[in-house]
Amino acid sequence: MSGPYKLLHGLVKCPVCHVGHIPPISTLKENGVYAGTCGNCGHFFKFQSVAPYRSSITFFINGSQYTIGNEYDPATSLNEYLRASRISTGTKYMCREGGCGTCMVNAKLFNVQTQSYVNYAINSCLCPLYMIDGWEVTTVEGIGSKQKGYHPIQQRLGDYNGTQCGFCSPGHVMNMYSLLARNPNPTKQEVEDSFGGVVCRCTGYRSILDAMKSFASNSTPNPRLPPTDIEDLSSKLCKKTGAPCTGNCRPRDPRGIHMVFAGAQWFSPSTLQELYSLMTQYKDKSQRLVFGNTATGVYKQIGPWSYDVLFNIRGIHELETVSFANLAHIGANVSLTQLMDIFGEVDPSGGFAYLRSLVEHIAKVGHTNVRNSGSWAGNLMMKQQFPDFPSDIFVILEAIGAQLALGGQDIPGQELVSLLKFMDTSMTGKAILYMVLPQLSASFYIRTYKVMPRSQNAFAYVNAGIVMELDPTNNFLCKQKPSIVYGGISKTFVHASKTEEYLKGKQLGDPTVIKEALNTLSSEVVPDVGPALSTVEYRKSLALSLFYRYVLSVLGDKVGLRFRSGASPLTRPLSSGQQSYGTKKIEWPLTQPLPKLGSILQTSGEAQYITDIPPIPGQLYASFVLSTVGNAKIQTIDPADALKIPGVFKFISASDIPEGGKNDFMPSGNPEEILCSGQVLFTSQALGIIVADNQITADDGAKAVKVTYTDIQSPITNISDGIQKQSFFPKPVPDLVVGDAEKAIANSPKTFSGTIGLGAQYHFHTETQISICNPTEDGMDVWTSTQWIDGAMDAIASVLNIEKNSINVEVKRVGGAFGAKITRNSQVAAGCALAARIMNRPVRMMLNIHDNMEMIGKRIPYYAEYQVTTQFGWDCSSRSQYSIWDNGILSELGTKKDDANNSDDDTETTQSEKTCRSAKDLASVFLSHRFNQIYVKDSQFLNLRLVTETLLQKGSNVVTLGTISGVHSVLEQVAIPPFRILLRSIFAPESSLQLLSNLVHCWQTIPIPPVVRRLHISGALLHYEGLAPYCTTVLPSTLDVFFGLVSSQTRVVPLQCFCKPTHIFFCPAIIECCQILITKMAPVKAKMVDPTWQQLVQKCLEEGIDLTARYFIFPNTEYVFQYNSYGVTCTEVDLDVLTGENQIARVDLLYDCGESLNPAIDVGQAEGAFVFGLGYWLMEELKFDPKSGQLITNSTLNYHPPTTKDIPIDFRVQFLKDAPNPVGVLRSKAVGEPPLCMSASAMFALKHAVEAARQDIGKDTYFPLYAPATVEKLQSNCLLDISQFIVA
Ligand SMILES: Cc1cc2nc3c(=O)[nH]c(=O)nc-3n(C[C@H](O)[C@H](O)[C@H](O)COP(=O)(O)OP(=O)(O)OC[C@H]3O[C@@H](n4cnc5c(N)ncnc54)[C@H](O)[C@@H]3O)c2cc1C
Ligand code: FES
Ligand code: FES
Repeated sequence: MSGPYKLLHGLVKCPVCHVGHIPPISTLKENGVYAGTCGNCGHFFKFQSVAPYRSSITFFINGSQYTIGNEYDPATSLNEYLRASRISTGTKYMCREGGCGTCMVNAKLFNVQTQSYVNYAINSCLCPLYMIDGWEVTTVEGIGSKQKGYHPIQQRLGDYNGTQCGFCSPGHVMNMYSLLARNPNPTKQEVEDSFGGVVCRCTGYRSILDAMKSFASNSTPNPRLPPTDIEDLSSKLCKKTGAPCTGNCRPRDPRGIHMVFAGAQWFSPSTLQELYSLMTQYKDKSQRLVFGNTATGVYKQIGPWSYDVLFNIRGIHELETVSFANLAHIGANVSLTQLMDIFGEVDPSGGFAYLRSLVEHIAKVGHTNVRNSGSWAGNLMMKQQFPDFPSDIFVILEAIGAQLALGGQDIPGQELVSLLKFMDTSMTGKAILYMVLPQLSASFYIRTYKVMPRSQNAFAYVNAGIVMELDPTNNFLCKQKPSIVYGGISKTFVHASKTEEYLKGKQLGDPTVIKEALNTLSSEVVPDVGPALSTVEYRKSLALSLFYRYVLSVLGDKVGLRFRSGASPLTRPLSSGQQSYGTKKIEWPLTQPLPKLGSILQTSGEAQYITDIPPIPGQLYASFVLSTVGNAKIQTIDPADALKIPGVFKFISASDIPEGGKNDFMPSGNPEEILCSGQVLFTSQALGIIVADNQITADDGAKAVKVTYTDIQSPITNISDGIQKQSFFPKPVPDLVVGDAEKAIANSPKTFSGTIGLGAQYHFHTETQISICNPTEDGMDVWTSTQWIDGAMDAIASVLNIEKNSINVEVKRVGGAFGAKITRNSQVAAGCALAARIMNRPVRMMLNIHDNMEMIGKRIPYYAEYQVTTQFGWDCSSRSQYSIWDNGILSELGTKKDDANNSDDDTETTQSEKTCRSAKDLASVFLSHRFNQIYVKDSQFLNLRLVTETLLQKGSNVVTLGTISGVHSVLEQVAIPPFRILLRSIFAPESSLQLLSNLVHCWQTIPIPPVVRRLHISGALLHYEGLAPYCTTVLPSTLDVFFGLVSSQTRVVPLQCFCKPTHIFFCPAIIECCQILITKMAPVKAKMVDPTWQQLVQKCLEEGIDLTARYFIFPNTEYVFQYNSYGVTCTEVDLDVLTGENQIARVDLLYDCGESLNPAIDVGQAEGAFVFGLGYWLMEELKFDPKSGQLITNSTLNYHPPTTKDIPIDFRVQFLKDAPNPVGVLRSKAVGEPPLCMSASAMFALKHAVEAARQDIGKDTYFPLYAPATVEKLQSNCLLDISQFIVA
């Protein structure tokens, strides 16, 4: 054969000279007969491809077969393939690191153990395309659609209102689909346990979980919904047998795969021997084994793109063997999910029974989908490569004394090593073959622990595995050296060796032994320091707490009653919710709880977001170049390295802005540069734009641009820094002065003063910022994910110096926004338009998760100093001296001060506000300042129980209708008694509050403080998907047509600013339009006898009546409503004092929603907002590098919004009944934003819990608790020390 062949022995042998050849990929067809001339001897011969390797892969997606060769990059993910080929755009992506779950698909994989195919939910973003040979992949489109009919899961999620922006919905659907395909009869608990991997920022999860749990075997059938046939749920039925398809009839090609790409090769060997010889053959090349490829999500640098040769080891069945004899052997190709199954099913009476206890810990590794794809061996290799990785698998396996068998060409037989030895073993040319587990008798007491920042899907602060062989008949004599292993302490710390040594031969039941062991442990645990890490003190304290917990759990009854609650971590029961609201049948569809129109489009993946718009021919991609320092001047920008990357076309800087164009994306507000022109104001500020032929290349190019800086000042990363450096913006608003607070305070016998603060919050919209700009003959067509269409249009017109009317901006829907897409999207739109204009080609710019988190502003942080007196109880006078936040957008603040005041009686107050300029990201405000100020205000009431008591004792209503509040708004449209009733019911003597005082526990506390909230409403934030349902409810009720006639495609697209006028403006405009239509139709209708709607419309058309109507509402017209909305929340929490972990046991939320237009939607808004707030108050901590000012928590792996198990366990939402709002739209009040503020009650509850813990140890002093009150902060404030760690 001739041609540019690569020689690969044994592939195609010339029958004459026996030289092996690989045919060019273009001519190679599987199992075909070919002819060629030998390049060595010139012999012409025919051959049939009997190659041990194939050079293409074949797979099935949604039942269709696909075969591909080497036309894709070896690093291409399944997600990229699905989306680029447009086989599935319902499969979304956000993070590309396994942290969001929007990319979920179902994969049917062959299981050697069971010799059948098994269904798993996997993250398509982490799955390399070339791994899926022989797989059957199902995407959301494959299970149901408008054409084929929708799948029950797609329908159910919509019916339960489990979708709002809908960006996460396909992920949730596919997660459930895979669960049911694998286990058709899951329990409710199993359903809840499997939803940790899909983040939803909108709904608060309750509705999603209810929808999914309705498929559980132990769920109560919902009479409102038709029963579902189990056959509809599972995967396809076999045409031959009628049983669910196992995929076994599909021929499986046993041959390995060899793909040759430019610069890389991909092998899928079938045997260990093949693997060894290939590793040896390519020993001079960089090489990597791939099983799940999930490690790439954590450590990007080990992604497939970094290696010359990749070995997919999934097809090597020798690595899948599992055997239990004297020792247990578990193959390296066993996934974490399979490991849980294997451990969970071991004989409970044998020497491996202890493995069952490890299942719970493995269930805390990542989430279901990572465990489905990832192997235990891959996890250990991560630990070896990155010793500071807090691997759970390493900790538990090392604690029980597991060993590893390693194999390779140069290893005769196998090499058995301990995990510690493995950490120091070079793995070049080697593979992990299996783990070896010992038998341990019941006298071994084995406990493992993991403390993490949220309930699931997070790396450990600290994890531990403790194993001791004890003799309980001899005061728990420690018979041999125990194994005490910790993760998360430092790169090198594994065993607490000195403590292990000390305990050998000691009696653990002896208090002096415990004390000495704790002292020894305390001296040897020395945690690493790092800006990304939790504090040294906390991790050390956790190590001690976990050891103490172990002792308590082992000693059992020997432990005093008071201390027993510390023996085990909190256990979370199944969550549930209750919703209660009024509805008036006579007004239906108004006030009727109806599913959102269009939800089925979201749950089926048919809803199109901007990211789903097909590429425009000739389209390019753009990415911002971000500054790596804050507070400096740009010296030079050198894009040369970036421009060398194949596919990178252009670098654009501020100087490329066309003549007359303004470098400002806020042309009608406070100016902000699109691209920095010299003075860098904050780290991750946009300095330029790279344009390339695809988004990943553009992102890579942006990183390759070299920037030097001069005059580098140290960054200001928090408000205290800003205050210290006197870095202030001009005073935004005048002081708010009511009465003479200073005098009131001076005359008061008792005053308090202090500081309070809360951090910023990343909005975590699941669709990152995106714009597509297409230059047209007279301007620009723009699709951008903005909440403020005219803002984006302004910014583009200004930078390009073109007329606004030459720009067409279209926004069909956005995948979450929450305020982050009001002004911030204008920068993305303007940058993208600039690139499109300069390249004169369509350009798409979608920010990757890291840029989105680093560059885009956040909810603003707050810090306040206050002085307050409580001499009058509830009617307190106060003076707050500072309310300072950084980089706020200031125009709205004046109007919100009244909300901050938030005490409805005669409060005397002085509020002085300053805005702090910091070398950090710019803020994207909106909701934030309002509830931040409220928190600052609430924190003045140092003891909220005082507030409650005052509220309960007051004979009359707290506020009287018509009272003028502290500032200027009239208090009306509120019925107070129901709030008092709710408080009374929760604070009744038999309630759990009473339990608090009877607590016998030392290590868990359960307080229940209420938060009473008044909010002044003059606009409420909803995004498009939140708004449309209201409008589609108003429409039929005004026109008096059947609700079902309203199209699910009804689009609500505002022409004007979107952030202010939500349903408050839209619904009246729709009503006015409907009135116009009714008037137009009236003469026609008068001539007809009882026509149907369709007949009337037809007749109107025949008579030439224009059935369109238009009505324009602008803020500050008669449609600006101002009213107050009220709510009360009671939250019960459990706090694990030893670790700071906590759970929200119950929330009672009563909200004044007026007469809800659609209570089902409004409940979803309230729940979603509340859970969003939980993240703000409790979990979502942003950390910055103190040297560079860079955001460290810039990924889904280290930034922690709530997941399904962070929501209240018992979540009760009530709307005030019979409470019409005389000045609202159709008697309604806004919902969505306000309940977010009510979630502060969870933080107050936890503060009370900490106070109770401090009381218990006689350290009941006041302490400020700054939000977010993370697990770490809560525990640290409990002031634990080892002197408290006693057992009786
Ligand atoms: C979102 C997310 C959350 C996570 N949370 C946690 C957590 O809470 N706790 C925790 O401990 N881990 C966590 N992980 C890590 C996860 O457990 C690992 O990514 C997974 O186990 C790796 O297995 P894999 O098969 O995907 O490895 P791969 O990504 O395929 O490979 C990882 C490394 O191991 C090597 N390798 C794989 N198999 C072998 C073998 N047989 N012999 C030699 N080398 C091999 C590869 O060459 C590569 O270097 C998380 C990961 C993600 C993405
Ligand atoms: S995109 Fe795959 S998990 Fe986020
Ligand atoms: S509906 Fe889940 S993220 Fe918006």
